[in-house]
Amino acid sequence: FAVHLVLSFFSKLQEDPTKKVDRFMYAMHLHDDQLSDISARFQAEMKKGLSGESNAAAAVKMLPTHVHSTPDGSEKGQFLALDLGGSKFKVLQVKVREGTGVRGGGVEMEEKTYPIPEELLTGSGKELFDHVSESLNDFLHEKKISVEKKHPLAFTFSFPCEQSALNQGLLLNWSKNFRARGVQGKDVVQALRGAVNRTGGMDVEVLAMVNDTVATMMTCGFDDRYCEVGLIVGSGTNACYMEELHHIDLVEGDEGRMCVNTEWGAFGDDGALNDYITEFDREVDAASNNPGKQILEKMVSGMYLGELVRLVVLKMAKLGLLFEGQVSDALRTKGKITTAHVAAMEEYKNGLKNTRNILVDLDLSPTPDDCVAVQRVSTIVSFRSSNLVAAGLAAILTQIRQNRHLRTLRITVGVDGTVYKTHPRYANRLHKVVQLLIPERRQQQRSRSGHSSRTKLASQRRQVDETLSPLR
Ligand code: GLC
Repeated sequence: FAVHLVLSFFSKLQEDPTKKVDRFMYAMHLHDDQLSDISARFQAEMKKGLSGESNAAAAVKMLPTHVHSTPDGSEKGQFLALDLGGSKFKVLQVKVREGTGVRGGGVEMEEKTYPIPEELLTGSGKELFDHVSESLNDFLHEKKISVEKKHPLAFTFSFPCEQSALNQGLLLNWSKNFRARGVQGKDVVQALRGAVNRTGGMDVEVLAMVNDTVATMMTCGFDDRYCEVGLIVGSGTNACYMEELHHIDLVEGDEGRMCVNTEWGAFGDDGALNDYITEFDREVDAASNNPGKQILEKMVSGMYLGELVRLVVLKMAKLGLLFEGQVSDALRTKGKITTAHVAAMEEYKNGLKNTRNILVDLDLSPTPDDCVAVQRVSTIVSFRSSNLVAAGLAAILTQIRQNRHLRTLRITVGVDGTVYKTHPRYANRLHKVVQLLIPERRQQQRSRSGHSSRTKLASQRRQVDETLSPLR
């Protein structure tokens, strides 16, 4: 008996610290069959949102965008753009060069980021839009863009809007960390025009209002005619794609296609994901600005990944599974682990060192095994995120393929968002799992700037296979 005790003590001492994390976080591992199930559920939700009969009750709103086509390569000219609702508020000047030969054109952008003071996110809508238009005014002066000439302007507004035309949109609800008063139910194009008039001295015409997914698809589409899907994995998450008009009951007409903004962040708001939701997801939701809303977004996007990691680490520490049971005030504080931390913890070379520094900054004294374990927590949380996005994307690609009665489909997905762009492993994982869920098709993802990252993806994939195979 004594020998047995000693032996089990030793084997406990030597246990790979990732194993206890894997056991603890079992519910966040999503296997292929579960991902296929989630993908099928999402495709069913898409159909529910598209149908006139079920749209009102649908969690996934499938909003018509009134964008009827992707660029055909003959576009040229320049316009101003505002990008509100992502991690940064930006003003841009976009120049589209006409394609020569097989699309030799491309898009050139000059942009400036303007901070939005915290209080404007929750203040009055008027103040928020005044800030937006004053920033635009500043941009025109700084870039010496003539204020005498009329400038067309595209407004990228990254929230769900009910649109009856391209230049009109009623805000259905805020999400992420925006809550400005008096905008919900109002036309945001009118709100912007009002603010531009109040600022004065600018001749701009708001021609279009688009969701960020749509802006991503279109920007990518200037370079690549196969781009018919836009995807965002940033502070929030969402996707759009070109749907057959005859499937969109809310819009008249049967001929041709229209881009649909799925608003997939709300997938699960009606309970459709309840059997995949963990206690940590419930905690994140309960402490958020919008409990019960944007359930998928809270499992996936940059606003929540760090918080999920913190809650898991906190619980493990409280149970004595980390830091010998030590818990600091910082670790108990909401927001102390961010998505930037998650990305740093998973860096190829410095991940463990970064993990240690992050934990020390949280007033903890981690052992090397604790660092390995916390890095694993981070990996499982961010891997689940890319798995869920892959499941959604696979559903969209399947829907498009079925619409077109094709056996194979060539399509490019335009992708943007801080998580996708800055997390060192996210893009590779996503790419790989999409291929796995629809193995008969090759996928190519493109960043918003339109530059294909395919070569890079290919060269890093081998490492990902080795490092993460236990999770899949
Ligand atoms: C949120 C918004 C959605 C947006 C996404 C990404 O989910 O509701 O409109 O596209 O964030 O920014």
